[in-house]
Amino acid sequence: MTSFSEALRNATWGDHEAAEDESYLKELMGGRLSTAEYGEMVAQHHFAYVALDGVSRELADHPVAGRFVFPELYRERALERDLATVYGDGWRDRITPSKATRTLVARIEQVAGWPGGYVAHHYTRYMGDLSGGQFIRMELQRIYGYAKGGGVDFYVFDQVGSLPRFKQEYRARLDAFGETLDERERQRVIREVKLAYQLNTEVLAELLHTVRAVA
Ligand code: HEM
Repeated sequence: MTSFSEALRNATWGDHEAAEDESYLKELMGGRLSTAEYGEMVAQHHFAYVALDGVSRELADHPVAGRFVFPELYRERALERDLATVYGDGWRDRITPSKATRTLVARIEQVAGWPGGYVAHHYTRYMGDLSGGQFIRMELQRIYGYAKGGGVDFYVFDQVGSLPRFKQEYRARLDAFGETLDERERQRVIREVKLAYQLNTEVLAELLHTVRAVA
């Protein structure tokens, strides 16, 4: 039988490709955006992770969702350092959540009481940051010359240890979680992961409009 982590990955890999292919990321990875335009994405991440990490803190003692709460993954402080590096000390006055980010944040908060919903959003963000995010970090360091300590700290998980080992453990927890669910609930979680991909992709799509409108 296919494990839940595999089923989840297989059912959503097409959604992943749509996220990965988003033009903003292509422009960013192609070195065609200014640091301020890169900062737009960091700012949107900041709002999303204030929500996601906030929900995680609240769920730390939850018997099911708590299995996916890892304080070493929290991104808020790293994003603050990145924003201070990109925009300077006045960064808080420069950033606002986009419409797509407000929609994503609202959904994260709306499903916080449903373990499957929390896991769906947690998985979509963190497994991505620990996977493709590591490639993005290398490219950003090459393009902008950022070093650890601010700029790309969002992608630095130095409290986690071996990332492959962590991802293996994460998948084991997904599998154990999946075993507690019936097929209908598994499908519901998969649908929420698809929605999470879509909402995150819309954040990137909206960023490109902002960047193009400014250019
Ligand atoms: C330049 C952009 C991206 C690249 C190059 C990329 C690349 C990758 C690669 C190579 C993996 C497989 C890693 C492994 O099996 O260990 C992966 C996994 C993943 N990525 Fe991305 N990715 C990108 C963007 C994104 C975005 C924008 C999201 C979500 C918003 C995302 C979410 C995920 C998730 C959830 C996984 C884990 C899939 C699983 O094994 O269950 N990725 N990515």
